[in-house]
Amino acid sequence: MRYKKTVVILAAGQGTRMKSDLPKVLHPIAGRAMVLHVLDMAAQLDTQDVHVVVSPNQPKVREVIHANYPQSHVVEQPQQLGTAHAVSCGVENVELQSDVTIILYGDTPFVREDAVNSMVQAIMAEPELAVAVLGFTAKDPTGYGRLVAIGDRLEKIVEHKEASPEELMINLCNSGVVAVKTAVLSTLLGKIDNQNAKGEYYLTDIVAIARKEGYQATYIATDEQEVMGVNSQIERAEAEAVMQQQLRHAAMEQGVMMIDPNSVMLSKDTQYGRNVVIHPHVVISDGVQIADDVEIKAFSHLQQCKIGQGSVIGPYARLRPGAELESHVHIGNFVEVKKSVLEQGVKVNHLSYIGDAEIGSKTNIGAGTVTCNYDGYNKHLTSVESGVFIGSNSSLVAPVTVGKGAIIAAGSTVISDVPSDAIMHSDMKQKHRENTAEQFRTVKRGKS
Ligand code: UD1
Ligand code: CA
Repeated sequence: MRYKKTVVILAAGQGTRMKSDLPKVLHPIAGRAMVLHVLDMAAQLDTQDVHVVVSPNQPKVREVIHANYPQSHVVEQPQQLGTAHAVSCGVENVELQSDVTIILYGDTPFVREDAVNSMVQAIMAEPELAVAVLGFTAKDPTGYGRLVAIGDRLEKIVEHKEASPEELMINLCNSGVVAVKTAVLSTLLGKIDNQNAKGEYYLTDIVAIARKEGYQATYIATDEQEVMGVNSQIERAEAEAVMQQQLRHAAMEQGVMMIDPNSVMLSKDTQYGRNVVIHPHVVISDGVQIADDVEIKAFSHLQQCKIGQGSVIGPYARLRPGAELESHVHIGNFVEVKKSVLEQGVKVNHLSYIGDAEIGSKTNIGAGTVTCNYDGYNKHLTSVESGVFIGSNSSLVAPVTVGKGAIIAAGSTVISDVPSDAIMHSDMKQKHRENTAEQFRTVKRGKS
């Protein structure tokens, strides 16, 4: 059965333990803000009804969510009075049309849609069920709410601070993910008070309250890794390791060959073709498309770029945003490419900077060639047509065009357009004095 869902993501916590000016939920995992991973999952749940609860002290959180998920509702929780209060803020002033409301945390980025869907199926299966909780067995349950259950029925959740010695022995814990039938959500939330150790409105009280109101509650268990939360820099790094491991496995399952996967850092949104080979210590940041038969050699760094079929990148190459390589392009050692289109078969093999340029097919760019794209105020375009040979250590001072098939001599400074089929060299006279080198050395030796 398909049910209508409302999603509420709690992201208003201050995250003080991160000890950072960056809001906790904006800390990146695999280059993407934590809260966006949660929104990515919510987007798989087949609903448009997504509410994210944020703090008014963290305007950046709203901005990032709005930029990535403009259709989601970002709601402020004026003060952090507890998880139940946060949910109330998330859904107040809206007439919810859904069957189930699912509460997720912005700092718990690994929860998968399968777990959420199982909770939805479970809660909707029986009319008397009002709440389903995502639980897990904790290796160390310290700090977590404990699930007090009889069989598959949940009696209550007790927070660590309120738990009796017997309850502290329970290691079945609350992940924080809770599903509530939307029809009873506001009634149940309305009955939660803050008479507890922390003086907060605990969402976890919703289970005992539902029971008191004559409803039932249940739980679904998942493994601890799926519900791992991030509260500190150490936990962020642990989450990064888990996510990287998942991304590497997913890439290899798609057929990517990784010589040493553990040294490679990946992103979620990379597109890989067939027969892609990635060597050690490569970093693939966001927005990268890699076509078939591409080899990326060690220590290369790629971001927001397209790599065409049969291209070879690196070692030590840097592809920056807007680098678009057509098929069979070679980018070699210590070459940086930014916002440039390199047509089929272009070679830039050594020590070059190519920025704001169009390079025609089969053109060879010699070692140390630099596009001088910036005059201190504006960026200008370098256009090199097809079949051009640019000698080593040339400077192309933009805006400038080098015509088809031209040859530029090594060490040239190209300041004006070069016609097609021309041979161009800068007008520098080479001077030499004969029979002077040995004399020079003799003088030097005498002095030392
Ligand atoms: C909560 C659960 C606990 C569970 C644990 C799992 C409650 C009372 N306890 O405890 O049972 O085992 O998560 O990690 O729910 N938040 C707001 N506004 C608030 C308070 C919190 O948006 O006023 C957000 C936080 O940003 C965070 C999430 O809610 O993303 C959880 O809050 P937190 O204070 O970390 O709850 P825990 O004490 O960890
Ligand atoms: Ca927490």
